[in-house]
Amino acid sequence: MFFRQLATKESSLSYFFGCGTKGKSMAVDVVAGDEEWFIEEAKKAGVTINFVIDTHVHADHYSGGRKLAQMVGAPYCLHESDKGIVKFDFEPLSDGQLLNLGNVDVEVLHTPGHTPDSICLLVTDRRRGELPWFVITGDTLFVGSIGRPDLAGKEKEMAGQLYESLHTKLLPLPNEIEIYPGHQAGSVCGAGLSGKPSSTIGFEKRWNPGLSMKRTDFIEYLTKEIPPRPAEMDRMVEANISA
Ligand SMILES: [Fe+2]
Repeated sequence: MFFRQLATKESSLSYFFGCGTKGKSMAVDVVAGDEEWFIEEAKKAGVTINFVIDTHVHADHYSGGRKLAQMVGAPYCLHESDKGIVKFDFEPLSDGQLLNLGNVDVEVLHTPGHTPDSICLLVTDRRRGELPWFVITGDTLFVGSIGRPDLAGKEKEMAGQLYESLHTKLLPLPNEIEIYPGHQAGSVCGAGLSGKPSSTIGFEKRWNPGLSMKRTDFIEYLTKEIPPRPAEMDRMVEANISA
């Protein structure tokens, strides 16, 4: 398989990966203005872009996902809970759904908490092994931190959902699974993020302070000192969901 991580605006991390042998690929969390980068990388790798996915409707940057999808004729995908919220047609993804990219398989994990529509993508390279190799965690789990739970309002309820998502979907994964998050240090989507843009489930379980707490302590920890809301948040969300 091939794999690229793009460090871009607002301390965001985007992903482009797939199977060079079968010529299939996926673009994840594309930031507006970066669309040409993905098209260039697809040319270099000799692949078609088969899916463009946002791990959630972003509140801290303008998404380039829908535009890239239109440019390359791929479906633009979001979690199915965005039906009725997002005002244009998109390909709805559901928990447990499998997406195939040749020798690479991607499983959709619904992980609400940062936002109700947050998903993670669990990736297996069948040329290397039958079990997953890494997980793209969006704004659910960062290196050294956890996504903020307040953007949808009702932050205590959302923090509880985030606890469930982490403990039922991500932490049961094997320790050697790599984590590729949606942001690194400098982002307003969480507090205390590392400047290192990847980690593993095992390392985060041991050293990420939020992952060893009981549910009530976790909710308190996550809602105690919430960073200021992204400056243009309302305008960005509106742009990301409007027709
Ligand atoms: Fe986010």
